[in-house]
Amino acid sequence: MPSAYYAPLDQPLTSTDDDDEEADIERHQQQHQRRPKGAAAPSIPFLEAHHHSPMAHLRVASGVVGGRRRCLLPLVLALLFLIAFCYFTFGADTRLALGLGGGGGGSDDSDDGMHSLDGILSRALNETLHLCSEGLFDQRLYVQDKPMEEYGNLPIIYFVTPTYPRREQIPELTRLAHTLLHVPRLHWLVANDQEGCNVFMDLMLKGFGIPYTHLASPMPSNFRKAKPAPRGVANRRAALQWLRQRNLTNGILYFGDDDNTYDLRLFSEIRQTQRVSMFPVGFIADYGVSGPVVRKGKVVAFLDSWLAGRRWPVDMAGFAVNLQYMAQFPNVNMPYKPGFEEDRFLRSIGLRLDQIEPRGNNCTEILVWHTQTKSKKAAVVRLESEYLDGRSNLGALFRSLKIMGVASASDTEGPKALISKNGKAAAHSTILS
Ligand code: UGA
Ligand code: MN
Repeated sequence: MPSAYYAPLDQPLTSTDDDDEEADIERHQQQHQRRPKGAAAPSIPFLEAHHHSPMAHLRVASGVVGGRRRCLLPLVLALLFLIAFCYFTFGADTRLALGLGGGGGGSDDSDDGMHSLDGILSRALNETLHLCSEGLFDQRLYVQDKPMEEYGNLPIIYFVTPTYPRREQIPELTRLAHTLLHVPRLHWLVANDQEGCNVFMDLMLKGFGIPYTHLASPMPSNFRKAKPAPRGVANRRAALQWLRQRNLTNGILYFGDDDNTYDLRLFSEIRQTQRVSMFPVGFIADYGVSGPVVRKGKVVAFLDSWLAGRRWPVDMAGFAVNLQYMAQFPNVNMPYKPGFEEDRFLRSIGLRLDQIEPRGNNCTEILVWHTQTKSKKAAVVRLESEYLDGRSNLGALFRSLKIMGVASASDTEGPKALISKNGKAAAHSTILS
């Protein structure tokens, strides 16, 4: 496990408010509140999250101890061995989580174990981040049928999209790109959850002509094993780091997942954000919606079916932040804590209820939908390589499908490719050779 991922917390969270509420949240978590189906599950104890298998063994072991006393000694020894193993293998965070101390910067977070846990998951931004490619010039001549100059000096929207390799990735990004192509003065920060740079994606992003930055920002491997895993967090953190490294203090930040559906009016709404704006998001959990409650033009509360003690029970797609405002909070953070990313991010920028700007006609309209795509495995088609040459289109087609992670051809695996003519299946050789 690379120790870089366990950099000690050199900066505490900028929590301007009382710590009691933090403790409340932890209590709520401990009471096993569950986020409803379709939404992210709540945080899980550190050990379960990151060292699932060793601890699973421990739990099984203690059950056996109760049943068969003669197994006690070997099991105690095994337990001690496992603790020692974790201690020396996984480093500071495990030591902290095991209550063995010596956890570096995290230990000054609090005496309380759960508090330390929160500290670890919210450690200072120090992500593995590769800049794959960047296009800083807007190559579009017209947007929404108006020449680019008509948009003058509108503040730039930094649209942060975490994405990850799976069959749906390229179609999702294609669909999203075709929404963003209609939006002037936008910089698309695409942060891919993978080690290396995806060259196909570089070319694709360049081709759209929208100013963009393509980052490779993989989820730390220890978090990937967790259930639920903190999806899209490493990439959003990388994007925050990118913004901070460039000292970008002019513009609007919006976290736009690759699989959501965005109404074009959303962009004009968020562009006016002074500090933090909020609006309802459709398709969230049990109520089919999550968003602010507004009275007399002011946000007074929130409607969301999964509270879990969150002060800001909103969806990632339900708010936008002005970068100048955010710049006042150097400890901006988003924790690796499924279900609590939004709340803790908004806490890290010292948000107050009276500062929130309701958008979307006082939060009466849905301008963004939390749509989800069903995930399926990439297809394998049995199509002998001898037919995948220049004699037909199929060679080039399957090479490109493979690069996109959608389907691949195999000589030996998968259902045999059915080729037909005049409604009748025909031998590959008759059609392709
Ligand atoms: C919900 C929230 O809207 C997300 O903001 C939150 O990150 C996520 O739950 C969570 O906490 O797990 P949901 O639609 O359930 O989102 O999750 P996905 O769409 O699967 O993932 C959210 C974003 O992270 C997507 O843009 C996705 O491409 C990206 N992601 C997902 C990764 O970068 N890596 C992954 O392993 C999975
Ligand atoms: Mn999603």
